[in-house]
Amino acid sequence: MLVSAKEMLVKAKAGHYAVGQFNINNLEWTKAVLQTAQENNSPVILGVSEGAGKYMTGYKTIVGMVNGMLEEMGITVPVALHLDHGSYDHCFKCIEAGFSSVMFDGSHYPIEENIEKTKELVGVCAAKGISLEAEVGSIGGEEDGVVGMGECADPNECKAIADLGIDFLAAGIGNIHGKYPENWAGLSFETLDAIQKLTGDMPLVLHGGTGIPTDMIKRAIELGVAKINVNTECQLTFAEATRKYIESGKDLEGKGFDPRKLLAPGVEAIKATVKEKMEIFGSVNKA
Ligand code: 13P
Repeated sequence: MLVSAKEMLVKAKAGHYAVGQFNINNLEWTKAVLQTAQENNSPVILGVSEGAGKYMTGYKTIVGMVNGMLEEMGITVPVALHLDHGSYDHCFKCIEAGFSSVMFDGSHYPIEENIEKTKELVGVCAAKGISLEAEVGSIGGEEDGVVGMGECADPNECKAIADLGIDFLAAGIGNIHGKYPENWAGLSFETLDAIQKLTGDMPLVLHGGTGIPTDMIKRAIELGVAKINVNTECQLTFAEATRKYIESGKDLEGKGFDPRKLLAPGVEAIKATVKEKMEIFGSVNKA
């Protein structure tokens, strides 16, 4: 059964480790992440962006697929199904479809509007036992070939959002989605420290988990990060393993055209990446 991400993240913050959110894109991806979580006895959060939701034909399909897998794969570790960077409308769609957790990303609104919309969702989610993530300070990334630098959130604005009763908070601390540029200044631990001091026990979320050096990840966890999102790295390792398999020409004239064979190296690559992240984040054997 899917669970809210609240309890696993409160436990993670208190125990000084982080739970990984791995974004899913299809059936193989979902199965690989769930298998790895079970094999490593780790709690896990399956992230779904609005784009991935559309690609997989809609949120109800995803809920059906994930619930089916939890049962048929005999998954016993805590699993949350979470909307990643959701708009206000899509938070409601996911709640209705059966997600156990949503992120409302109101960071592009003026802070007053972000507060107002987040507050409404706090009430809706609390009534249904669904966890809610909010965001303050935009998280940069690549758009049309231009890499935007991550912005640092205002700690006082973080406190204002945290005090609304959300379950965990994503705050920009110089992190960005996708690959980090050569001249990246690194995470701002000064900002993270100030945010953590003002928000107390609130589990903090680090987006853009691909390519952040391990020492920075560990320092962020020490300063209150309890959830780390990884997407691009799984995509890169999946693509690389699949490309190598196709280029090897191996089996393609035999049974290798069967998607179950063709995608297998990519699936193994995702499993290896997820396992490595769980070890770095410290969530192994924390289920
Ligand atoms: P990456 O794609 O950089 O791993 O970031 C994932 C993320 O933060 C999803 O919200």
